[in-house]
Amino acid sequence: MTQEELFKKLVAHCKEYGFIFPSSEIYDGLGAVYDYGQNGVELKNNIKRYWWDSMVKLHDNIVGIDAAIFMHPRTWEASGHVGAFNDPLIDNKDSKKRYRADVLIEEWLAKQDEKIGKEVEKARKRFGEAFDEEQYRATSPRVKEIAERRDEIHSRFADALNNNDLAELRQIILDCEIVCPISGTRNWTDVRQFNLMFSTQMGSTAEGANTIYLRPETAQGIFVNFLNVQKTGRMKIPFGIAQIGKAFRNEIVARQFIFRMREFEQMEMQFFVRPGTEMEWWNKWKNTRMAWHRALGFGDDNYRFHDHEKLAHYANAAADIEFNFPFGFKEVEGIHSRTDFDLGNHEKFSGRKLRYFDPETGESYVPYVVETSIGVDRMVLQVLSAAYCEEKLEGGEERTVLRIPAALAPVKAAAMPLVKKDGLPEVAQKIVDSLKYDFNSYDEKDSIGKRYRRQDAVGTPLCITVDHTTLEDGTVTVRHRDTMAQQRVRIEELHALVDGEVSLRKLFSKIDL
Ligand code: GAP
Repeated sequence: MTQEELFKKLVAHCKEYGFIFPSSEIYDGLGAVYDYGQNGVELKNNIKRYWWDSMVKLHDNIVGIDAAIFMHPRTWEASGHVGAFNDPLIDNKDSKKRYRADVLIEEWLAKQDEKIGKEVEKARKRFGEAFDEEQYRATSPRVKEIAERRDEIHSRFADALNNNDLAELRQIILDCEIVCPISGTRNWTDVRQFNLMFSTQMGSTAEGANTIYLRPETAQGIFVNFLNVQKTGRMKIPFGIAQIGKAFRNEIVARQFIFRMREFEQMEMQFFVRPGTEMEWWNKWKNTRMAWHRALGFGDDNYRFHDHEKLAHYANAAADIEFNFPFGFKEVEGIHSRTDFDLGNHEKFSGRKLRYFDPETGESYVPYVVETSIGVDRMVLQVLSAAYCEEKLEGGEERTVLRIPAALAPVKAAAMPLVKKDGLPEVAQKIVDSLKYDFNSYDEKDSIGKRYRRQDAVGTPLCITVDHTTLEDGTVTVRHRDTMAQQRVRIEELHALVDGEVSLRKLFSKIDL
């Protein structure tokens, strides 16, 4: 199965099993907007809990807030979003389709890496055990030719982005002979900038109404509350403020399911530090955040750092954590050193002082900020794409299983009576009642043959079967999702067993906070 086929299956699976639906589907949906179903919302809430606890609960010096989505319009002038939150867009004149010029070029660059990878694999097969990949890459004329061209384009691309040179971006697209995937032609318009913020009116009459924006990032709600939190919480630098909330961007190239949405959710933490110490903290947060991802057990090789080609208007250092999605390595999280740009500009635009008096140095200053910013929806996609698995079982049977880390699984335990009579359903119900205050548990009512398959398909880590022996000796069979191993345990032991399997503690113990 190709990665593309796998991804299509995953999208269909998400709908079939109540994870993710197209928004307002009965009206044919709305582009790049999605709704979470009964299992999707549980997964999403568990991811949010994993993030929130790792920040707020486990750090004495990080607190949370929940700021409003609507903010004073001057906020977005101060933050630079009115002037600079743009994407470079290009249209194909034949298909009339619009693309992000930078994405077209990035995809071309990724294709060159793929070409090199294929050459290397061919050679590996040809030379067998004696193959020396490093030497081959350094000497193969074909590989060298592709790599040199890629590096040249890469360097032109980075310069064009940093200089905001739209004509050069177009020229690169022409020079690389990039064609529109729909029309197959190279009939491109000029590249133009397009602001990504959604706006709306606040106020009841058109004359008195103010244009306000739907926030494109949650971070600004933290910056404008910096002093409120610092003073009321008596926070001492270094300290952080965390927030989870909706953000909105009028994405033009909205593709790949919930990877790029117009309405999405972010988990952001702004860490306020003494000026001059920001690089140290940036490196520390890069490592901590990478460990948070890797603790999920999807394989360390499926993550990598990617330094930004072009720094955002507020940053002096920035790196992404990328995950290996079915459509390649893509960003899930950004770790940005935002300097004093935001607080400094809010001082200028609001006329209010946003300074911190440092009792250790006796100085008053605008703190520097290191930000960690991750999309909840991209995390959901990361978990689902890593977890989705089609397996052939002994005896020729097949199963589709979501190997979601137990702590994040929507349902933790499903209790099942072997037959729907003889008092077994009542015992299963009692088991659910005894677990439900602490774990999302479920009383499975499906027919016997289907119920394991159904629980596998939503990723339930533990299935508990109640049979006639249960009535005699108070034991049940616990079946583990991944290994399908079964064990017999006493009903009184179930709570501790489930807790041991699904607790977030297991994940936290792998992270050096
Ligand atoms: N406050 C900084 C900031 O917003 P960003 O790199 O633009 O930085 C941070 O976004 C994260 O938000 C991304 O790494 C991604 O996970 C998520 N994100 C951004 N745009 C998104 C979109 N259109 N759909 C889904 N997630 C998005």
